[in-house]
Amino acid sequence: MSSALAETAAAMPASAPPLLEMSGIGKRFGAVQAVQNLALSVQPGEFVTLVGPSGCGKSTLFNMVAGLDEPDPGGILRFKGRGCHARELLGRVSFMPQRDLLLPWRNVIDNAILAQEIEGANRREARARALAMLPEFGLAGFEKQYPHQLSGGMRQRVALMRTFLFERELLLLDEPFGALDALTRSMMQRWLLELWQHHRRTILFITHDVDEAIFLGDRVLVMTARPGSVKLSLPVNLPRPRDPALLTSPEFTALKREVLDAIEEEAMKSFMASA
Ligand SMILES: Nc1ncnc2c1ncn2[C@@H]1O[C@H](COP(=O)(O)OP(=O)(O)OP(=O)(O)O)[C@@H](O)[C@H]1O
Ligand SMILES: [Mg+2]
Repeated sequence: MSSALAETAAAMPASAPPLLEMSGIGKRFGAVQAVQNLALSVQPGEFVTLVGPSGCGKSTLFNMVAGLDEPDPGGILRFKGRGCHARELLGRVSFMPQRDLLLPWRNVIDNAILAQEIEGANRREARARALAMLPEFGLAGFEKQYPHQLSGGMRQRVALMRTFLFERELLLLDEPFGALDALTRSMMQRWLLELWQHHRRTILFITHDVDEAIFLGDRVLVMTARPGSVKLSLPVNLPRPRDPALLTSPEFTALKREVLDAIEEEAMKSFMASA
C-alpha cells in the first residue's frame, strides 16, 4: 500500500459502511435468468474487478447499479448504507457502458461533456475542462474530430474521459480497455491506477483479462456461469503502486491460478449444460 493510501485507510473508521451492498439480487429476461442470488459489497475507495464467462450477467449487474434496470423483487440494494431502489441510483454513479455510445454528430469535446451538459453544467466551462484533460487521455489535438475519424482505442478513451468528467463516488467501467492494443492497454492501466490513487474514487471494473483484473484490483470477483452470482471474492494483497514487474512474481502467478481455476470450472459447467 502506498503511503497516501495507507493514510486514507487509517483516516477511515474501521467500520466505514460499504458504499454499495447487494444481496439476493436476481434479474430475469423472459426465459433467461441472467442473474440469481447475487451478493456483493464494495467499500469506499476500493478498486474491485469483475471477471466471468461471457453472458454471465456482468453488464446486467452494471445496468442495475447504474439505475438503468430494476432487479427482480426480493433482493436488497443499499447505497451508502441506505436501502434503495435501483432507479434512485440513476445519475449517482458514473457509468461507462460496454459499447462506447459516442454520438456521431458530436466532436470529441462535445461527446466528452455530454453527461455534464445533460446535468445542466455551463457548456463553455465544461468544454474548457475537457480540453485541458485531453493530453492526459492521449487525445491532444483531436478535440474537433468526430467519432468516425477516430480509432477504436481513441473512441474508448473519449468514452472513458466522459465517465471521469461526470464526477461521482462510484465508477462503473465495463471492459473499458477491451479495444486497445497491448501496449496502449498497459499504459492506460497504469494511468487509471494513478488517477484512482489521486482522486480516490470507488471503481467496479469488468474485464475478460485475468492479468488486468489482478494488476488493478484490491479484490477480484469471479462470477459463476449464467445465472450469474459471485463465486469467489479474492483479495489482492500486492503492494501499491503496482509495478509491471509484479506480473511475473510468484504471488501474482498464484493469484492468477486461483482465478483461472474458478473461471475454468464455470466455463466447463456452461459447456456441459449446452452440450
Ligand atoms: N435487455 C435484455 N433483454 C433480454 N435479454 C438480455 C438483456 N440484457 C441481457 N440479456 C441476457 O442476459 C444474459 C447476460 O447478459 P450480459 O450482457 O449481462 O452478459 P455479460 O456477462 O456482460 O457478457 P459479456 O462478457 O459477453 O459482455 C445474456 O443471456 C443476455 O442475452
Ligand atoms: Mg457485458
